[in-house]
Amino acid sequence: MSGRVAGKVALITGGASGVGRASALLLAREGARVVISDIDVESGQALAEEIGPSALFIQHDASSEADWARVIDTLRLRYGQLDILFNNAGILLKGDIEHTSYSDWQRVQRINSDSVFLGCRAAIALMKEGAGGSIINMSSIAGVAGRDDYTAYSASKGAVAALSRTVAVLCRRRKYRIRCNSLHPDGILTPMTTATLPAGLDPWSLTIDADPMGRMCLPEDVAASVLFLASEESRAINGIELRIDSGQFVMSI
Ligand SMILES: NC(=O)c1ccc[n+]([C@@H]2O[C@H](COP(=O)([O-])OP(=O)(O)OC[C@H]3O[C@@H](n4cnc5c(N)ncnc54)[C@H](O)[C@@H]3O)[C@@H](O)[C@H]2O)c1
Repeated sequence: MSGRVAGKVALITGGASGVGRASALLLAREGARVVISDIDVESGQALAEEIGPSALFIQHDASSEADWARVIDTLRLRYGQLDILFNNAGILLKGDIEHTSYSDWQRVQRINSDSVFLGCRAAIALMKEGAGGSIINMSSIAGVAGRDDYTAYSASKGAVAALSRTVAVLCRRRKYRIRCNSLHPDGILTPMTTATLPAGLDPWSLTIDADPMGRMCLPEDVAASVLFLASEESRAINGIELRIDSGQFVMSI
C-alpha cells in the first residue's frame, strides 16, 4: 500500500526526535504534507530538509497557549486545513512521590498533559471547519499501570488517556467527524530512554529483536500505529487506548 494519507496535512509535536521523527518520515512517505513542530530548532529544521518540500518545521513549545495560536494560524493560512494531529511532545522524569518536588510535578504535567489539552482544543477548531480529522495522543503504558518510580510522568500520561476519551466522545456527539485515540507504548528505543541506560549497556540487547522477552521496540513500530490511526483505514476507531507493549501489560496482571 502507498499513499495511505495522501492529500492530508499532519502536525506532529515533538517531531524532531524519536517517535515524532519516525512518524514524520512515514507519514510523508505515505503522501501527507507534514508539519514538524518542536523546541529543538536545529534537529527539526534538518528533518524538514531531509523530507523535502512536503515538510515544514515550526518552532513550537507545545505547552504554550500563545504558541498553539500561532501554529494554528500558520496552518490555516498555509494549507487551509488540518487532518492529522499527533500530540507527541513529552519529557520523562524519574521519581517516586516522596522524591518529586512540586515544581517538577508541575513541569511534567505542563509539558506532557497541558500540551495535549491545548493541542486538542486548537485542532478541533480548525479540523471542524474542514472535513474532520484524526487526533492521536501520546500516552504511555505508565498511564495505565502503577509505575511508582515515575509518579509525575505516570500521572501526566493517565491524564492524556482520560482527556482523549472525552475528546472522542464530544467530537462524535457534536458530529465533527474528528476521531481521537491514545497510544500506550512500553519502552521505545529513542534518545529519551537511551539517556537513562547504564553506561556500557548495548541498547539493542533490550529490544524485542534481540530477545522476545525484551521491553524495547523501535520508533518505527510506534509510527506504524500512528499511520494506521491517521489514515481512513481506522475510520471507525475512536476513543481507544492502543497498547504497544508486546503483551507486557497483560503479562503483569
Ligand atoms: N521512549 C519511550 O520509551 C516512550 C514510551 C512511552 C511513551 N513515550 C512518549 O513518546 C513521546 C515521544 O518520546 P520519544 O521517546 O520519541 O522522546 P524524544 O526525547 O526522542 O523526543 C521528544 C521530543 O519532544 C520534544 N519536546 C520536549 N518538550 C517539548 C515542548 N515543550 N514542546 C515541543 N516539543 C518538545 C523534544 O525536543 C524531542 O524532540 C513522549 O510523549 C514520551 O513520553 C515514550
